[in-house]
Amino acid sequence: MEKITSLAKRRGFVYQSSEIYGGQNGAWDYGPLGVELKNRIAGAWWKEMTRLHDNIVGLDAAILMHPRTWEASGHVENFTDPLVDCKKCKSRFRADQIPQENLAAKKCPDCGGELTDTRKFNLMFKTHIGPAEDTASIIYLRPETAQGIYVNYKNIIQSNRMKIPFGIAQIGKAFRNEIVTKNFIFRTCEFEQMEMQYFVKPGTDEEWFTEWRKQRWAYYEKLGIKMDHLRWHQHGPDELAHYAKDAYDIEYLFPMGWRELEGVHNRTDYDLGRHTQFSGKDLQYIDQDNNNERYIPYIIETSAGLTRNLLMVLCDAYDEEQVAEKGNDDDWRTVLRFHPDLAPVTVAILPLMKKDGLAELAQDIRKELKEDYATDYDQAGAIGRRYRRQDEAGTPFCVTVDYQSKEDGTVTLRFRDSMEQVRVPKAELSARIRSEIKTYKRIK
Ligand code: GAP
Repeated sequence: MEKITSLAKRRGFVYQSSEIYGGQNGAWDYGPLGVELKNRIAGAWWKEMTRLHDNIVGLDAAILMHPRTWEASGHVENFTDPLVDCKKCKSRFRADQIPQENLAAKKCPDCGGELTDTRKFNLMFKTHIGPAEDTASIIYLRPETAQGIYVNYKNIIQSNRMKIPFGIAQIGKAFRNEIVTKNFIFRTCEFEQMEMQYFVKPGTDEEWFTEWRKQRWAYYEKLGIKMDHLRWHQHGPDELAHYAKDAYDIEYLFPMGWRELEGVHNRTDYDLGRHTQFSGKDLQYIDQDNNNERYIPYIIETSAGLTRNLLMVLCDAYDEEQVAEKGNDDDWRTVLRFHPDLAPVTVAILPLMKKDGLAELAQDIRKELKEDYATDYDQAGAIGRRYRRQDEAGTPFCVTVDYQSKEDGTVTLRFRDSMEQVRVPKAELSARIRSEIKTYKRIK
């Protein structure tokens, strides 16, 4: 993880928030390569969950919601972690994450000092709206994007004539006052989620739950993620969230071990039932194709962390290998083997020399490719070093412009993973890259 954190900073994927002030715990900033990678991951998810499904539509709901939302959802009452403090070293722990013998003996696992009693700590960030800081103006930063979907479910049925089963997808920020934020961007106080809520008829929920588990697994396979680094974990009765009848996590083998990447939850009619109760509005679905049968739909939720997916994609892509590209056996390279659909830069254009018109020719080629691909241009330093820089950024294709290019209009296309190089007429470059992306198979 240290290597990944350091690469992420060095190459502009992720920086510590407010670093010049000593950093802000639980918050991170996404640099030029990071924001591109994050947008690509979000784009791949959005395509998968909306464009490829005729019955799933999108939504972008506000972060600030009516405070009654969070009473109805159960978050005010239940969204808590058990917290203990060490009276001596002042360390703070989640009581469920320290050895039970320490908890029973009230002994700090770090310094052996005395621990406080366990108390419940609500993870929602509370703030005030309006000028007066009284309780009437309390408002929360949303701890999950899901509730914005539930409170809009009737609007969407009416505006888009949706029929059950159907889904609503959303990507957006969520906030949790996490007690322990470590392992880089794995668990943070400000993060992004990619959630899809699928509304189904009660009684068909288990079938759809199985179907969505299958689809979410296939999604990671399609993105070329190492499938032996993924596994399922079913929640036991003591792990289930207050709204869930059944839940499975997709876990990824991060450098610190197996950890949750995404959850698939059967939320039953809990949320819409509670919003009916708290808002006084009728949130039943009326099945016009079935004698106007009325019911509160069950909800199957797929909930993935976008920023956590970014960490997974970085870990999964990271590789170091000994290469002999320039006949030097001791040469090592760090390479990010991103799927080309996710890579922040798809193609880098590199003139062999700055002089003799090669730079101008390379700029012309970049101008043409820009319309179709995210490009980079680098004319500084030896060509081998420039390839290494692109490998580290995860750029799947490099185009090198040399003296032969001036004579016969061909360029060198270099592949990141195999380091193989082929000569391609520049007029065919764009189509060749498109076909390479379409047929991409991870080799390592
Ligand atoms: N709407 C259901 C829900 O929010 P969750 O299991 O609490 O369920 C879903 O969160 C996903 O959101 C997790 O699998 C994880 O990827 C991401 N996530 C949750 N808390 C996070 C945090 N503090 N930092 C980063 N990602 C987080």
